[in-house]
Amino acid sequence: MNKRKINSRITGFFKKNVEERQKLMKELCNLSSDELQCLKDSTSILDKAGHGHYIENTIGVMQIPLGIATNFTINKKDYLIPMAVEEASVVAAATNSAKVARESGGFFTSNTAPIMIGQIQLTDIPDPFNARNKLLEKEKEIIEIANLQDPILLKFGGGCKGIMVKVLPDTPQGAMVILELLVDVRDAMGANAVNTMNESVSILAQEITGGKALLRIISNLADKRIVRARAIFKKDDLATKEFRGEEVVDGILKAYAFAEADPYRCATHNKGIMNGIDAVALATAQDWRAIEAGAHTYAATKIPEKYSSLTTWEKNNTGDLVGTIELPLAVGLVGGVARIHPIAQISFKILNLSIPGGALELAEIMAAVGLAQNFGALRALATVGIQTGHMKLHARNLAASLGAKGEMIEKILSLVEERNLKVTFDNIKEIYEELK
Ligand code: MEV
Repeated sequence: MNKRKINSRITGFFKKNVEERQKLMKELCNLSSDELQCLKDSTSILDKAGHGHYIENTIGVMQIPLGIATNFTINKKDYLIPMAVEEASVVAAATNSAKVARESGGFFTSNTAPIMIGQIQLTDIPDPFNARNKLLEKEKEIIEIANLQDPILLKFGGGCKGIMVKVLPDTPQGAMVILELLVDVRDAMGANAVNTMNESVSILAQEITGGKALLRIISNLADKRIVRARAIFKKDDLATKEFRGEEVVDGILKAYAFAEADPYRCATHNKGIMNGIDAVALATAQDWRAIEAGAHTYAATKIPEKYSSLTTWEKNNTGDLVGTIELPLAVGLVGGVARIHPIAQISFKILNLSIPGGALELAEIMAAVGLAQNFGALRALATVGIQTGHMKLHARNLAASLGAKGEMIEKILSLVEERNLKVTFDNIKEIYEELK
């Protein structure tokens, strides 16, 4: 293949408008006219909003399918849950799992207050423990200054509620004092509010300690902003042609034990949970990197020296499967992109969320989806394996990519099964040609 050479030094790329950048990219990267049109079409959703959210150097919008997970009952209320994800089986798994949980009342949730932690790193302090105490003595003053920054948050009952101070006595750069603000961010994700407070307080913190305030930034280990969900999956509803309900329950318990005993498995186990949580996060334009960072660090720190499952699985006295999930979820309805992205706005409407309190409700919904997703993955893994379901969906996508629609897709799928064929592009194409 002829390797194309490009020069990535482009002066003033950021000054061009989207259309000019698209044109330039066409020239530089040999994009076809169809490809250029594809980029142009992709931005229409943000253009339509009239206040499109563009990042620096935008040339298009990366689109990901938006699906709806049905069957969810959470705290005795039904929800239709928007999920944006490129992996074909995720929405189907959440939907099927929610159907089983529904048989025993669905998901039940709880949360802590939406408290985020802001960190101020204080360096060059010869007497760090003394400085720690001095900061704690001035807690009231520190809170007052922090709260001057956000009168609206205060009006809604949020704001800085307290401080914590810790000494890191032995870093490679010597001792450091870390002042932490505990900020109730109400319906916001909170990064902006907390970072502004951090910066305003840092001057006073320097004066109190005589040190130098270096980093002033929110912590994504949001372990004071926890949500929980639980559900029962009845053994009788887990039976299949090949497996008894008891066998499925025991298989899932063994799968869970594997995750708790081995971080290599646990990473994948938790990834499966995040498949669902991230998909809701994306559909509602949340900062999913913050969510991921928080979830995995929580999994790594809730039990010291151990990377653990975000879920637990047990068998109750009737032999049914009981699942729980607990994790930090920093999600918001106000501020950020969520407030302006047209699809996020539609997602909020579908979820029927409102302010105040909508952010906590969203976090609880996400926890329920994470639990459902984990159940779906473990049930498949502990029985037929995940490839059967994946491959069916993959075959559907391959057929659709060839132009097959509706009934034709179903016919192709049943012939693949009937003939016991491998799901490959060539096999699907051959059947498609035959049926056409
Ligand atoms: C795939 O995206 C997710 C799973 O690997 C999760 C798991 O193994 O538990 C199926």
